Amino acid sequence: MAEKEGAEISEAEIAVHWQEEEYFPPSTQFIAQANMTDPGIFERFAEERFPECFKEYADLLSWNRYWHTTLDTSDAPCWKWFVGGKLNASYNCVDRHLAKYKNKAAIIYVPEPPDEPHVTLTYQELYVRVNELAALLRDFAGLKAGDRVTLHMPMVPELPITMLACARLGVIHSEVYGGFSGAACGERIADSGSRVLITIDGYYRAGKLLDHKEKTAIAINGAEQAGQNIDKVLVWRRYPNQYVSKDPMVEGRDYFMDEVLKDYARKRVDPVPMPAEDSLFIMYTSGTTGRPKGCQHSIGGYMAYAAGTSKYVQDIHPEDVYWCMADIGWITGHSYIVYGPLSLAATSVMYEGVPTYPDAGRPWRIAEQLDVNIFHTAPTTIRMLRKAGPEEPSKYNFHFKHMTTVGEPIEPEVWRWYYYTIGKGTAVLVDTWWQTETGGFLCSTMPALDPMKPGSTGPAMPGIYPVIYDENGNEIEVETNKAGNICIRNPWPGAFQTIWGDRERYVAQYYEKYCKDPDSKDWRDWPYFTGDAAMQAKDGYYRILGRVDDVINVAGHRLGTKELESACLLVSQVAEAAVVPLADEIKGRVPDIYISLKPDFEPSTEIKAAVREIIETTIGKIARPKNVHIVPDMPKTRSGKIMRRVLTAISNGRDLGDVSTLANPDIVDEVRRMVQGE
Ligand code: WTA
Repeated sequence: MAEKEGAEISEAEIAVHWQEEEYFPPSTQFIAQANMTDPGIFERFAEERFPECFKEYADLLSWNRYWHTTLDTSDAPCWKWFVGGKLNASYNCVDRHLAKYKNKAAIIYVPEPPDEPHVTLTYQELYVRVNELAALLRDFAGLKAGDRVTLHMPMVPELPITMLACARLGVIHSEVYGGFSGAACGERIADSGSRVLITIDGYYRAGKLLDHKEKTAIAINGAEQAGQNIDKVLVWRRYPNQYVSKDPMVEGRDYFMDEVLKDYARKRVDPVPMPAEDSLFIMYTSGTTGRPKGCQHSIGGYMAYAAGTSKYVQDIHPEDVYWCMADIGWITGHSYIVYGPLSLAATSVMYEGVPTYPDAGRPWRIAEQLDVNIFHTAPTTIRMLRKAGPEEPSKYNFHFKHMTTVGEPIEPEVWRWYYYTIGKGTAVLVDTWWQTETGGFLCSTMPALDPMKPGSTGPAMPGIYPVIYDENGNEIEVETNKAGNICIRNPWPGAFQTIWGDRERYVAQYYEKYCKDPDSKDWRDWPYFTGDAAMQAKDGYYRILGRVDDVINVAGHRLGTKELESACLLVSQVAEAAVVPLADEIKGRVPDIYISLKPDFEPSTEIKAAVREIIETTIGKIARPKNVHIVPDMPKTRSGKIMRRVLTAISNGRDLGDVSTLANPDIVDEVRRMVQGE
């Protein structure tokens, strides 16, 4: 039921209908230096060679012990990769580079305040800091392999250091995006069963030093109410020896990391050789039901896939300066700021703040100063930078060889500005389509081998075999020029292992829809349902149209409409709530909220304000709605279901379709006049 209702509000329905576009070939300069110029790769990853083909990615890593089984399907659809193998992710990202690159920058950190100096961590410095922290986590916090620890951290160098220290011990980290509220963090602490929370006192965002530690009390309270106690809170400080938060430290529970670390100076911790199919991290994401889902990622498969795609799609060489402007609190940052790039001995740039602070020239000054040559960002940022400073990039002397767009469909017009104005017409541009669940890219052009086509993500990655199904499970043929549900027919090493603690939901949400035989141990019977609509052109390139479920992609971030709706219901006057996607020039989509009130309450600006407030405190500022519409009643089916499809059409000023079968067709017109008159 819920699924059908979800399908009615699909983002794909409000997708623009773009024209077929022309091709852009990669430049000869790019091809001359690219990591992957052999078209034989497609042959090597052809279906007949699956799954052994993925050895090519796994061989980019250093293993303590080789695997005996490349793909174990005995617990379908929980796939296990490189079974029998042992490795350590921290070793692969740090230790093994020391012999050749110890004096090379691993991370260059750019604080948001323009007058604050950059922080450069060489591989040797990263090694020392990861070791000392690993010693602290083991001996002071009592963490060991398999334990979960929640990180609620913004973009500071201590975040990747903490992740790598966890990985060194085999501790599973669960990083919660810094912009999420304390309540959202608490929910994730409880779900993951963490007893340790790692946070920071404050950080800069748009020129303000935000108090972050103040979210801790709410997080811990929330977790306790859900039955999970936190023993220790380890607090990094934005400026060691100064405390920039007003939140009191709790005696016996809260500790300043910089103080405790003094006891672990010069300590070294051997990286623990971990079974490949153990978990590296959990990353929560939004889905069809109210609760966020903990996507659980493996060590061996995930690392192999992150390394392989970073090398061949991101084209990272150790001598490149690579800047991905995502936040490490999302999957893009995990795979393509931390684990992928560092496993290849890259120099990875991290920026603390917002791209337009103090002005829209900031990213280009950073790129010029650090001589960044690989740049990775999302359409929403490109739109924002284009609007705020269309001529800015041409004022600065920087040259990218390679650029990425990720997270949402990019309009061909925005693509061209990115290509010509930022890329100066010489950088290759890859449009990478993937998800939190998938660990790494599913579709993209191979930058030196395939031409680019604006608005299309490109063909499938090597070793990924997609299929587009209609609602009944029939394959949609290319010739029909129709959109459908894009699925992946096969498992791949980067795929998540399951939903933390909820295998049933994992199967139900991702595999049930198109499963051919629930008892089968053959992967061919278990296509993976991505939740996106797509169409394939005759050249084999895919165009992604957007979500078909209850997820709204806001500025490249996933929000579950059900999560927002349950938040609205916490306002005591609200009887019913419906959240729909509204097309937005910069953010792609934003949530638009409809509420109806309990009897005896009158619409008021206070109620609207209370709804906005509750959204911010239960989820975070990223979920802020465009409008809160108070309506006399919701348009409903005869069986009483809210027709979100109709509300989506009203919000977006589109044709409403047939509403005559509704239980209350009159209300539709009333709501439309209200909303469109507003
Ligand atoms: C969307 C982000 C079009 C898609 C890596 C997917 C995209 C969701 C693209 C996952 C792209 C991601 N073109 N749409 N290149 N990349 N998406 O989990 O709807 O935050 O399902 O992972 O973003 O979002 P998530």
